[in-house]
Amino acid sequence: MGNVIITNHPLIQHKLSILRDVHTSSKDFRNLVSEIATLMCYEATRDLPLHEIEIETPICKCTAHSLEGKKLAFVPILRAGLGMVDGVLQLVPSARVGHIGLYRDPETLKPVEYYCKLPADINERDVIVLDPMLATGGSAIDAITLIKERNPKSIKFMGLIAAPEGVAALKEAHPDVDIFLAAEDEKLNDHCYIVPGLGDAGDRIFGTK
Ligand code: PRP
Ligand code: URA
Repeated sequence: MGNVIITNHPLIQHKLSILRDVHTSSKDFRNLVSEIATLMCYEATRDLPLHEIEIETPICKCTAHSLEGKKLAFVPILRAGLGMVDGVLQLVPSARVGHIGLYRDPETLKPVEYYCKLPADINERDVIVLDPMLATGGSAIDAITLIKERNPKSIKFMGLIAAPEGVAALKEAHPDVDIFLAAEDEKLNDHCYIVPGLGDAGDRIFGTK
């Protein structure tokens, strides 16, 4: 069964509180999403495999460690996942980036796919799916299903805030996927928004409301 890892580091929790605040501007919101993504990426990449290499320091030759293989692909779910991309690339600049476009139909609240472009060699990569919000879980479940069709080496999900309903749904649909979060909130409201949450992440990042 996939693990749920809540990264409750004080810096992340502090930044998350500012993010939630309705008075935080789009500019600050964007910066904070990116910064939290960087901090969370540190935890989500903890188990990347290393191999030994021989190097020469100015003092002597020695054995050191290097990341193994083709490494990582990040796949943000559009739109809000885009806000996390710069932050994770700060830590892993050589990673490839795929994109999956999904939006929740306002009537049915089910995800509708409108774009999918993934790295050609994704089958040789470990994938981290990025989306700040895991509400009903529908978007993450569908995105991961699409990625699995391309046989990646592994998949993790990295989000900022989740509802218990979304965590349960994602665990049931994809029990092999570890879920990294900054917070698990109380519940979903009648419109399937996370309570207390932070509102509509895409609108707050891009200032569209
Ligand atoms: C938001 C969010 C997730 C999704 C979560 O996107 O960024 O992708 O909702 O909800 P779910 O877990 O119930 O599927 P939204 O549909 O608002 O699209 P946008 O990012 O383009 O605004
Ligand atoms: N999407 C968001 O952006 N926020 C929520 O609370 C739920 C879905």
